Amino acid sequence: MTKLLLRALAGETLPTPPIWMMRQAGRYLPEYRATRAEAGDFLSLCYNPELAAEVTLQPIRRFGFDAAILFADILLVPQALGLDLWFVTGEGPRLSTVTRAAEVTALKPAADVHDRLAPIYETLKILRRELPAETALIGFAGAPWTVATYMVAGRGTRDQGPAHAFMREDRAAFSALIERITAATIEYLSAQIDAGAEVVKLFDSWAGSLKGADFDDFAIAPARAIIAALKARHPDVPIIAFPREAGERYVGFARATGADCVALDNSVSADWAADHVQVDGCVQGNLDPRHMVTGGPDLVAEAQRITRALRGGPHIFNLGHGITPDADPENVAAMIAAVRSA
Ligand code: CP3
Repeated sequence: MTKLLLRALAGETLPTPPIWMMRQAGRYLPEYRATRAEAGDFLSLCYNPELAAEVTLQPIRRFGFDAAILFADILLVPQALGLDLWFVTGEGPRLSTVTRAAEVTALKPAADVHDRLAPIYETLKILRRELPAETALIGFAGAPWTVATYMVAGRGTRDQGPAHAFMREDRAAFSALIERITAATIEYLSAQIDAGAEVVKLFDSWAGSLKGADFDDFAIAPARAIIAALKARHPDVPIIAFPREAGERYVGFARATGADCVALDNSVSADWAADHVQVDGCVQGNLDPRHMVTGGPDLVAEAQRITRALRGGPHIFNLGHGITPDADPENVAAMIAAVRSA
């Protein structure tokens, strides 16, 4: 096994960590903006296998990252389950909503998602042919809680209030929604692996708003179910879980869910994570994405501090969240040089 990312995920402690970046294909790159304009809009880009593969490859060509992440979006799954989805420029995603038990029942069965998602599998097949031999290919999906927050509210929300309200009003119906998304996610990720994904990642961007038993029921339990089903079908494919802003609930998350790696946001310190999270295996993270905008000596110092703090165990260098459109590509190159010379 020569790919650096797969070695770290197998639990190897490496002298230099593999590096990639959340949202590495994105608006901070002029070549991404050009290809997106050619596609027409964001969703047309997601469903165009040739162009989606092209934007996935752009940051690999420019920076030589150790991994490529499939270009798609977590909200394609609700669309495949029957909801309308569109993106409002400058504002973000909009969806038709699910707020009652009858609307959960009316969603498409999980096994039907492949009709809509087939182009995504095509993108992965192209990428497996075109990626350099040393670059690992990551597939992904949203975790059920995060996907549900968008399905219930019809958009992104600051506090995920609508999903919490649905949970309080009708926990059985909300649980049925989580179960439908869980089943669809197993189908989707399993098909991504069949199409060539070597690693998969579950994005639970809003895990931090779940507390106590809600965290157990809606962050841990669905992740555990998805990971168990994937491990049964594809025992050798490592899984990264990202329970963003989980705070102290990062402790033991890998053991509780079966994940091979836990991705850290930038609210936890790398020293704390070394003592409390990396003891269970590989961790990923956790540079604050604002350094990609501000650059300079602070960027170099912080990237090297994280690299050294997590050097005692398996580590994948990444940001704590996605790179933002106002980032400077030169800072990305500086980050990579800093990590590799730490
Ligand atoms: O990381 C990657 O480069 C892979 C592709 C990827 C995208 N979205 C492309 C994208 C991945 C892994 C995602 C995940 C995603 N999508 C999450 C979880 C991670 C996170 O950021 O918390 C969420 C919550 C979404 C939903 C979503 N998609 C939102 C809220 C938005 C609008 C906000 C924004 O940044 O514009 C998107 C749009 C989106 N997804 C873009 C990209 C490159 C920007 C679209 C554009 O080109 O205009």
